Amino acid sequence: MNASAVPHHIAIVMDGNGRWATKRYLPRVAGHKKGVDAMRACVRHCGERGVRVLTVFAFSSENWNRPPEEVSGLMELLAVALSREVPQLHAEGVRIHFVGNRAALSDKVRAGLLQAETATAGNTRLIFNICFNYGGRWDIAQAAAGLAQRGEAITEASLDRAMALAHVPDPDLLIRTGGEQRLSNFLLWQAAYAELYFSDKLWPDFDEAAIDEAIANYAARERRFGRTSEQIAPGSSKKVA
Ligand code: IPE
Ligand code: IPE
Ligand code: MG
Repeated sequence: MNASAVPHHIAIVMDGNGRWATKRYLPRVAGHKKGVDAMRACVRHCGERGVRVLTVFAFSSENWNRPPEEVSGLMELLAVALSREVPQLHAEGVRIHFVGNRAALSDKVRAGLLQAETATAGNTRLIFNICFNYGGRWDIAQAAAGLAQRGEAITEASLDRAMALAHVPDPDLLIRTGGEQRLSNFLLWQAAYAELYFSDKLWPDFDEAAIDEAIANYAARERRFGRTSEQIAPGSSKKVA
């Protein structure tokens, strides 16, 4: 696989943890725990494949509507994952960013997020954005509110700079596992030209081979950004699948 065939930025809606657990007569939180294992393996594998930015959807603005025990289980899991996973990610050269509305999170979780970001701030191998209490509409609204407050004009470029993922280019490939074919309020602004890839595999089952399959599928696509196929590959009449 040549380097240009590998997406610079992959974004993932990690869906299907609950169903993975329910199929095994386990509580849903057990599926989320297994989801953390899949996430760890995914970060490592993306780094090995030369992906430079990985952005994952871990908790949406709408996930607060779940049963309270599941919400508190997810908060607890984040706190535990922060203390357990960050040293290893740091050793692997991963820079961690949290993307989302932190105001609603507990002091303990907020402190953990900040600590993880500070500890890994000098790393450059892979940028790992964890979207937690994130919603695409929240992101657009907070960007616009920030510009309005500073008296800045609202343009595509100024909004882009004020969005939560301004530190990275837009995603090239957006993967959703778990069989649903929707965005569920993820990266509404940034996914404007992402290649979409849907997998029926549940997130805990989305292994290295599945990631490679998604990357290979991406590599076979022709990204036109509004142009014609002939403009992309002049002189070639080849139709790209
Ligand atoms: C995705 O898995 C993880 C979160 C939303 C936190 P789900 O928990 O949505 O799993 P399903 O869709 O119910 O199987
Ligand atoms: C999207 O999954 C959010 C995350 C993966 C964190 P959901 O399972 O919450 O999405 P819907 O509600 O089925 O659209
Ligand atoms: Mg789901």
